[in-house]
This record gives sequence, C-alpha cells and structure tokens, in this order.
Amino acid sequence: MKHLVILTGAGISAESGLSTFRDNNGLWQNYDAMELASLQGYRNNREKVLEFYNARRKNLLTVEPNHAHHVIAELEKDFKVSIITQNVDDLHERAGSNNVLHLHGELRKVTGSMNPNNPKCIKEKPLDEPIVIGEKAADGSQLRPFIVLFGESVPNIPAAKKIVAQADIFVVIGTSLNVYPAAGLLQYVPASAPGFLIDPGEIDSYEALNYHHIKTKAVEGIDILKDFLADKL
Ligand code: OAD
Repeated sequence: MKHLVILTGAGISAESGLSTFRDNNGLWQNYDAMELASLQGYRNNREKVLEFYNARRKNLLTVEPNHAHHVIAELEKDFKVSIITQNVDDLHERAGSNNVLHLHGELRKVTGSMNPNNPKCIKEKPLDEPIVIGEKAADGSQLRPFIVLFGESVPNIPAAKKIVAQADIFVVIGTSLNVYPAAGLLQYVPASAPGFLIDPGEIDSYEALNYHHIKTKAVEGIDILKDFLADKL
C-alpha cells in the first residue's frame, strides 16, 4: 500500500464549527495569542489561560467530525495513512483514523506545569471537568492543558519529520503554514511524492508551489482529492 501522509490544520475542523486562528473572525483576531497561548502568558496569568482552555475543552463536546475527517479515516482501506495534525481537537480520532500524531497537544489531555512533556504527568481528563488552580499533576506541579504554548518546543517534530520523509503522497489540508516548526515539515517531503493542498485561501509557501491546489473548503475538497488518489493506488 502507498503511504499517504496528511498534514492538517484548523481549516479541516472549521466546518465542524471550530474556529480557525488567522482567518477573519479566527481565534487570534478576537483573542490575544501571546496572552492566552504563550508560556509567558501562562506565567503572567494562569487563571486566564486555564479559563480559555477550559472553554475550548468544553466546546469540543459540542462538535462532531465532518465529512473530510470521515473520508480520511476511510482512506485507510486503500492506503497506509499517517495524519500529522496541528489541531488539538480529537475529530480525526472520533472519525476513526488510527494513526494520528498531534504536534501541538490535545485538549482531552492535561499535564503538569513543571515539565509538560513528562509522560508520568500526562493523562486524560474528561472535557466537561475544568482544570482548576490548586489541582496538581503527578509531580506536584499545577495541572495545565496538554497544549504546546508559544515559546515551548514541539516534541513530536522529530517523529513527524520521519513520517513525512517516508511519504509516497503528501497532502496539506486547512493550514495557513504560518506556524513553525510545523510548516517546516514540507521540506522533508521526498521530491518523488506528489503534493496536494486543500484550502479555500492562497497559501504562501515556497515548498507547496508545485502542489496541486484544490481551492475549496475541506468538505468539498476531500471528494475531489479522493478522485485524484484513485489514480495513484
Ligand atoms: P490558521 O488559522 O493559521 O489557518 C487556517 C487555514 O485553514 C487557512 O489557510 C484557511 O484558508 C483554511 N480554511 C478555512 N476554512 C477552511 C475550510 N472550511 N476548509 C479548509 N481550509 C479552510 O490555522 P493553522 O494553520 O492550523 O497552535 O494554525 C497553526 C497553529 O496556530 C495552530 O495549531 C495553533 C495556532 O496558534 C497552537 O495552539 C499551538
């Protein structure tokens, strides 16, 4: 089976009702990313950051995977599919995808503030239970969302690079490719692998210049992609 590697961003979950970050009305148009999603912001005001993520955790309970998530899960019948997602939602998993690497963390999980990547501290917490000040992780530090904050390293990047380097076909869906190191993964796609892009907007990326751009929303674009992929089985 050919290895299909798919890099996803907020755009794939937009039609499920989750906001993107940089579009009109995106989260970072309405909220201050440095205040709510950076390590410095967390150090300055933990309550505010917890409140923001508690709301996003709770909101995740109200949305469902869309047609694009479902078609990607079905592609496992014909391809070895690896998903690398910048999304912190669990919509790929809920649609049935078995091989999902989260680059920026997961809303379903919590960890400790001292060393967020300590496996002993990372655990699932029901989405309707808020994380509160005083709640401790296994190492005794304040519990926090298992989310990579701006200013922190992205521990899954080496694993992601290895996956990308083994792609037979590479697909990018719904990401502005503005955030590094995630956007830098395109440099590791083998020259022999055809590249596809599904995004209704213009994507300013040197590496993606030669990709076949399906310029629609994900729910419509995924069926167009499926037809292209049928030729590449
Ligand atoms: P952005 O908001 O930067 O980009 C979203 C992309 O989705 C844009 O290119 C849109 O054109 C596209 N888009 C919008 N609606 C779409 C739809 N229905 N179907 C397909 N595409 C659509 O989001 P990301 O690139 O995912 O990090 O942002 C990267 C990271 O920045 C996020 O993971 C998050 C954020 O800060 C953290 O929280 C650590």
